[in-house]
Formats: sequence, structure tokens, C-alpha cells
Amino acid sequence: MDMVLSPQNARRRFLQRFLRLVGGVSFFPTLVASLPTSSSIMANTHDTILDTMNNMVGVDAGAEILASDGLGVLAAAKNMFYGAATAAERLRVDAAYNSAITRECNIIVPEYEMKWDKLRPSPTVFNFTDADYLVNFARQNKILFRGHTLCWHRALPTWFASTVNASNAAQYLTNHIQTVVGRYKGQIHSWDVVNEAIEPTDKKPNNLRNSSWYKFLGENYLELAFNTAAQADPKAMLVYNDYGVEYNDPARRDGILTLLQRLKAKNVPIHALGIQGHLTYKDFATVDTSGFRTFLRDVASLGLKIFITEFDCDDTTLPTDNQQRDTGVAKVYGDYAAIVFNELAVQGFITWGLTDKYSSINSTAPRSDGQQQRPLPLDAALERKMAWYSLEFWFKQTAKRPATTLVEQAQETIAFLECFPNPATDRVNIRFRCEQAMELRIGIVDLQGREIVHIASGAFERGEHTLAWELADGDAASGMYVCTLVGTLNGASVQRSQHILVTR
Ligand code: XIL
Repeated sequence: MDMVLSPQNARRRFLQRFLRLVGGVSFFPTLVASLPTSSSIMANTHDTILDTMNNMVGVDAGAEILASDGLGVLAAAKNMFYGAATAAERLRVDAAYNSAITRECNIIVPEYEMKWDKLRPSPTVFNFTDADYLVNFARQNKILFRGHTLCWHRALPTWFASTVNASNAAQYLTNHIQTVVGRYKGQIHSWDVVNEAIEPTDKKPNNLRNSSWYKFLGENYLELAFNTAAQADPKAMLVYNDYGVEYNDPARRDGILTLLQRLKAKNVPIHALGIQGHLTYKDFATVDTSGFRTFLRDVASLGLKIFITEFDCDDTTLPTDNQQRDTGVAKVYGDYAAIVFNELAVQGFITWGLTDKYSSINSTAPRSDGQQQRPLPLDAALERKMAWYSLEFWFKQTAKRPATTLVEQAQETIAFLECFPNPATDRVNIRFRCEQAMELRIGIVDLQGREIVHIASGAFERGEHTLAWELADGDAASGMYVCTLVGTLNGASVQRSQHILVTR
């Protein structure tokens, strides 16, 4: 039987065990301190969920909106999010679970309620009952909301196969996106627009999955989906979501990366990559850490944010003993977080469920000893497990992300920011485009958040601007830096940042 511990004792015990397990504090990479946030741009406090979205990344707002000290509060303090996949029915009937979700999460995502076969009982009828419930629940509790998912090869209704074909697929897809995204316009933090479009084993060009959407529309279905979603809700961040990038599977990583590159090159509105992160304790041993880190860096260099969207850890190969399983699972959480939280483009971490009570992997990967899986941060009694403390540790240690504004605002005000290091001239060229005249301060900060070079301040006209960071001036060492543009426009904050890898 589990011992009941006070939170303080549980934490102390967790840390003792965890540090023993990972071989002491030296395991952790050099921890980076917080990036500074300009108090002037963070001064506004807001009340509505949309303003929360403006500042979701804003600690001050985050701390204010969430009264308890769950992972969501810790995440908000770093301008990040933590949340879980949830289900309308569980929230309706299980009061303890309902309050655990509001305590722990500053974002939620429906596990099933926004998939095609739930929303679309027939070709002409939409059923929004449960999706509405979830969006309202999030709004009432000041929790951000992710929509999942608009275009996937699975969870299609039974009528799909006999109804949708090459000549009407574009119509069905755009109508679906306009209807669903349009209904929740302005209330969604981010949409998983397309889910799992890459499958190298299907042997199609560009490693694309041979899904119904691909068969009917070719690769163009992706840009059709993203463009339609952007028109239906210009404020939502638009995400491509996929899995399997942690392992040494170059075709899969390449398939995803080059897909993102093609979408960006065509100016398709896409703002983030979602990495599912469904892991197993067994396979974690084969994670290709350096390849995964490089992949994260490559995605970030495209100017995309990264979200961990569906994390859980299958414990089937661990022994029956709860403590051994929880320790193993917590180590996977901690080691995984150590990789992904180190990448500043990673803005949040979502687990596929909050409590072991409702984990979906009990049906897909049952344990042979008949025990329930223990893949999530809370146990079946809603008590925090070691995995919870792994996430707590990393949310506390990780660098504070720069405050960002609404995607819409960023897009409207600074169309792009690019930084090109040129080793031949010992200079980094900085290019950006202002869509309106504005006041800006442009600087280079290091990963400790110190501004090491002030590039320029002042009024910038509408149009493109080119500036340079002369590396020799401050004698910058090789390493990672962030170019930040911070300013105000009509009283609202504007911020845009771009990572720069300097090699000298
Ligand atoms: C899963 C749900 O958890 C299950 O309850 C459902 O039966 C099938 O879908 N990748 C995804 C998620 O993007 O939507 C899937 O969720 C898990 C894999």
C-alpha cells in the first residue's frame, strides 16, 4: 500500500530518490537563469481568456489567474504552459478530477471530443455538445485551450469512406475547418491543424503518409488545411503535430523537417510543431539524444515554436512494484524534460491525461500482470507521483521564455525576423520587416538572459530593415544567443525573438 506523505515529505523523498537514481545533481546540464521580461511590456493585467492568451506567456498574468500552485502556475512563471488531455464526461461526473485539472493545468486539450467521428455523426450534422462543454469549462476556469485535431487519418466517422472522394475532399475539409474553427474563433490558443502526415514506411514522395487526405488531394491538403484555419481564426496558433522524432529514424525526422520547410517557404501560416512524446520506458533507452536535440534546433531555426503535446510513459516492461515503476517513469520524464526544456523554442508540455485513473494506454498497451499502467503525473487517487516532481523540477529550472504577444499581433506588426551569421565577415546580419511604423529596442541576449549587445533603439518605419551585430565589438564567444525586438505599438506590446548560433 502507498504511504501517505505530506507534500513536503513527498518532495524530499522524491528528490532523494531521484538524485540517487540519476547520479546526483551533476547530471543536470548547466541550468540557465531566467530571461528578463521588460516590466513595461508586462504591466497590463487582464481578465478575459483572450487577454490571458496575449499573456499566456506572461508570468504576472499567469500567477494572477491561477490561484493554486499546480504545474500550470509554475509553467506560467516561465511564460510556458503545462496541461493535459481531458474529456468532458470525466469533468462532469468526477469532481475530484475536475478540481485536479483546474489546479494543475493552464491549458487543456480534448482527448477525443474534437475529432471528426465525435463532431460529425452524419455528413451534414455537427454535434458540438461535448466540445462546447470543454471550451466553456476552460474559459470559466481561465485555462487555455488547444483544439485537436482538424485533419487526421484516424478517428474518421464511418460514413467518411463511402462519402468522401477525390472530387469532394477539398470541400469537406474546408467546410469542416471553417465550421469548427469558426465556431470557437478567438477562444483557442492553438489548433492541431494536421496530425501525423508523415509515414516513411508508406513509401510515398516526401515520406508523406498515404492517408485518405493524401490519396484524394496530394500534398496540397496540408496547405489547404492551414490556410483555411488561419482565415477562420487568425488568433489561434496553428500547429503541425507528429510523433517518433526522439529516435534515430532519419527518414521520419527528415520527412517532418522538410515538410515544415516547404510549408514555411510557401508562406503557409504555421506557428509550431507539436511533438506527441508517447514514450515507453523500454524504448527510452534508445532515444537518440543528440539527434533529437539537433532536430529541435532545426525546427526552432525555421522560426517555429515547439510544443510537447501528448506525453506519457508506458511502463509495461517495469516490474509490478509501484515504487519501481514510478521511479522508472519519473526518470523518463526527467530525462526527456532535460532535453526538451533546454530548447527555448519549447513553450509547453502537455501530458496525455493527468491521472493514471484515466490513461488511454491501459487499453492500447495493457500490462501482462493485470495492473493498471502508471504513465502520468498523478496516480489513480490523484496524488502527485515522482513524475510530477520531475516536471516541477524542470519548470522551476528552465529559462524563462521571452514574453510573446498574440500570433496575430506579431504577424501584423513584425512580419519576419531573420538572423544570418556570416563567419567570413564576423558579423550577424539581422533583417526584419515592420508592417507599421513602431518604436523598437533591438538587442542580443545570452542564454542567461543578459543583454550583451544593444543593437539599436528608436522609431522604425514600415518596411524592411537590415542591421548588423559585429561580433568582434563585444568579442562574443561561440554559442547560442537570442536576438530580441521589443517595443510598443498603440500602447500594446510587440515582441519578436530569434535564436542565433554563433560559431567563431
Ligand atoms: C487517442 C485517444 O487517447 C484514445 O482514447 C482514442 O481511442 C484514440 O486516440 N495520437 C494522437 C491522439 O494524436 O489523438 C491519440 O489519442 C493518441 C495518438
